[in-house]
Amino acid sequence: MYIISVLTLVFLCGRMIMGSCDVKLESSLLKDLVEMFLKKDSAKTCELLNKKKIPAFSAVLTKQISLSTNKVVKFNKVFTNIQNGYNPTTGIFTAPIAGVYQFSSVVMSQNGKTLIASLWHNTIKIASMYTTSSTFQTGSLSMVLDLKKRDQIAVKSYINSQYSSNIFYSDSNNYSTFSGYLIAK
Ligand SMILES: *[C@@H]1O[C@H](CO)[C@@H](O)[C@H](O)[C@H]1NC(C)=O
Repeated sequence: MYIISVLTLVFLCGRMIMGSCDVKLESSLLKDLVEMFLKKDSAKTCELLNKKKIPAFSAVLTKQISLSTNKVVKFNKVFTNIQNGYNPTTGIFTAPIAGVYQFSSVVMSQNGKTLIASLWHNTIKIASMYTTSSTFQTGSLSMVLDLKKRDQIAVKSYINSQYSSNIFYSDSNNYSTFSGYLIAK
């Protein structure tokens, strides 16, 4: 209904303006009018495109850490943290609003060592990465998850019986990263 009345109005005004002789004024008035309606509409439907409103974070490890099993990897240096969902002192992302989120993580194993880590959604282990080689190597994961408000997402270390700790390798090149952002609510 709203759209139809807007279109009718634009059409009528267009006809009215086109009837006059001032071509420059005509087109700029029509342009302003159309823009005004478009803006009003998009403000309603595209609220989340406002970059201050979209929960989005990216954090990196700037140094090597060693963790026992099921310990949260605290990606210590935050690059992006819109809506402050990610807490670098706990390593946990808490969803500021409900919605579908994309998460990804890359971790690097120490020279010649095995590294296993998993993405956790609250108390559920969702997906894992495993990397082993005679040199440094990265493992990665990427998941799309439907979260409720205050759901928690974290990357945790996992140790199989062979090892006593996991080394998450990183240095000032920031090889290990953790990111997430809202796709839709
Ligand atoms: C790693 O992160 C730090 C911030 O802690 C930044 O200053 C530096 O440029 C990053 N290094 C690389 C290679 O991107």
